[in-house]
Amino acid sequence: MRLVLKNIGNLLIAEQEPAPWVSGKEMASVNALSDAWLVIENGLIACFGEGEVIPFTDDEVLDCKGGMVMPAFCDSHTHLVYAGSREQEYEDKIRGLTYEEIAKRGGGILNSAKLLSKTSEDELFEQSLPRAYEIIRSGTGAVEIKSGYGLNTHDELKMLRVIRRLSQETDLTIRASFLGAHAVPASYKNDSDKYVDLVIGEMIPAVAKEGLADFIDVFCDRGFFTVEQTDRILEAGRKHDLIPKIHANELDYSGGVQVGVKHQARSVDHLEFVGEDEMTALKGSGTMPTILPGASLFLGLSYAPARKMIEAELPVALASDYNPGSSPSGNMELVMSLGIIQLKMLPFEVLNAVTRNGAYAMGLEDTHGSITPGKVANLIITEPMSGFGFMPYSYGSSQINTVILNGKIQ
Ligand code: NIG
Ligand code: FE
Repeated sequence: MRLVLKNIGNLLIAEQEPAPWVSGKEMASVNALSDAWLVIENGLIACFGEGEVIPFTDDEVLDCKGGMVMPAFCDSHTHLVYAGSREQEYEDKIRGLTYEEIAKRGGGILNSAKLLSKTSEDELFEQSLPRAYEIIRSGTGAVEIKSGYGLNTHDELKMLRVIRRLSQETDLTIRASFLGAHAVPASYKNDSDKYVDLVIGEMIPAVAKEGLADFIDVFCDRGFFTVEQTDRILEAGRKHDLIPKIHANELDYSGGVQVGVKHQARSVDHLEFVGEDEMTALKGSGTMPTILPGASLFLGLSYAPARKMIEAELPVALASDYNPGSSPSGNMELVMSLGIIQLKMLPFEVLNAVTRNGAYAMGLEDTHGSITPGKVANLIITEPMSGFGFMPYSYGSSQINTVILNGKIQ
């Protein structure tokens, strides 16, 4: 059976032959149809057009009542599988400790790892599933989820198996990243190279053997993993067909961007500390610079220089970083609002950043991120709005009326 959407006020990013990503000036424009219709068949976008639609008698018809239809969000960076929460630590932060100081005291990622080691796979799944449904309700259709709160082979595999179960249980399209090098466990405190040996010698082969991850990630930053260690880990991951996609330049000019580009990373993420050298490295590469403004908001960090990057003709993707320490929200409407408020991006720049550029950052550009015949029918129907700009502008209130994933109303 077909599902026909009628009375679409504006159909956004509707393209027959979409570019895999947009950069620079192109980010500020979006191909839009007005007074449009769209047909979904077998979970895929079949066709669309302007004007009156004449459905077949057995078609299911959904009246969009003048709302806009856009691709569902592609959130290319999250850690939404985790145990417990860390609001207690946030009180320490309110009292003046920094993210790095909390981490040095055994809090932060190590705190989440402690909680996760005490949590069974089933329990971890039960805790994570509501977060998956929560992001679906808020418009996300494709999401990348990382391991990295295990920090030993057993618990890293446990996380990755939960990620796989989430993709079986929900209509989300999920890409998994192995992030064994998220933090150095306390027992390796004085010998982080030995922990890197474990990641390379034991964890990567185990993850690859079970086919549990698409990407390899490293937290390449001051106080976490060095450029040399990142280099070794990415090299080892690539030998097992894990594509690099890394945390870089959140806390300092860490060299993370350059080592990511060297290894043809799909994306380098965070980028609060980005200058000319980093932008030069990114120019002409296939690496998507990905900004996580929720982490800057929540940790009180400076924001990545999105405007400079776009003016340098680079592409930009925006993602939520949903995690218990630096951004406990997976709300992409809020991410869009931070894009216009803090990153000074224009509404269509943020729309491109959370859809097609996010899809590219997950290697999903052929199937997601635009409204194109043959792509997965992952769509958001909005409330009627005066213009798309109203959506990021009305921060804190949702303009989402209906979410459709794999052609199914959620
Ligand atoms: O992307 N920066 C490193 N990792 C996460 C935070 C993880 C945590 O604090 O639990 C991030 O911000
Ligand atoms: Fe992250």
